Amino acid sequence: MSALVEIKDVCKIYNPGENEVRALDHVSLTIDEQEFVAIIGHSGSGKSTLMNMLGCLDVPTSGEYWLHGQDVSALSDDALSDIRNREIGFIFQGFNLIPNLTALENVELPLIYRGVSKSVREELSVEALKKVGLEHRMDHKPSEMSGGQQQRVAIARAIAQAPPVILADEPTGNLDSNSTKEIMDILKGLHKEGRTVILITHDNEIAAQAKRVIKIKDGKVESDSGQIVPVEELQTAGA
Ligand SMILES: Nc1ncnc2c1ncn2[C@@H]1O[C@H](COP(=O)(O)OP(=O)(O)OP(=O)(O)O)[C@@H](O)[C@H]1O
Ligand SMILES: [Mg+2]
Repeated sequence: MSALVEIKDVCKIYNPGENEVRALDHVSLTIDEQEFVAIIGHSGSGKSTLMNMLGCLDVPTSGEYWLHGQDVSALSDDALSDIRNREIGFIFQGFNLIPNLTALENVELPLIYRGVSKSVREELSVEALKKVGLEHRMDHKPSEMSGGQQQRVAIARAIAQAPPVILADEPTGNLDSNSTKEIMDILKGLHKEGRTVILITHDNEIAAQAKRVIKIKDGKVESDSGQIVPVEELQTAGA
């Protein structure tokens, strides 16, 4: 396994000066390929700030962010948007689907931005929708689907082109307990398939379902249940 995400001594300061807010305060962490990590913390602890950083939606005030071997800490907006398209599948609390597009068209949309041809686009999108159990709802619009189904469309959209990182920000925040279980089962399945899943939540029960839990408090890493060292590496290290 190799480091997919490497955050080195990152600070994020909003409103530098008298009223500054230190939203991230010397955060360092490494996430390897194929990990399933939950980032948990109370309101105001810095979760969204960290998510924006991880998702290349914002850059740190100081420190470095290496994603997939590339330093992305100081890139231009255009370069960041390219990286986002290539490296990250986003899942948001509010689904963020386009209301007047069908499920299939919603899943296809990011592939259009990536210049994928129509036939490949359709193939990848249908496959992703099948994976989340929505092959019978492909021609439905968001308003014709339940919250859980809409979130499954959003997951299909996030995974269609197999991005290295799946970044989910409170993905079950708007869902009832049945749909929450469905969504968590899908995320666990993606992890089992070898995808890297980073889940941001304030819910302990949800976080406990991940393999590793990183707790943040006042912009600092308070605890980290740690990376799991694969058996092969232990053996080569002579442990
Ligand atoms: N654009 C901004 N300008 C100034 N301060 C900000 C800004 N965004 C966030 N903050 C501050 O940074 C700190 C961390 O905020 P953040 O949104 O990351 O918290 P959070 O953990 O996501 O909280 P929640 O669970 O409520 O979403 C808070 O003190 C917040 O007030
Ligand atoms: Mg937040």
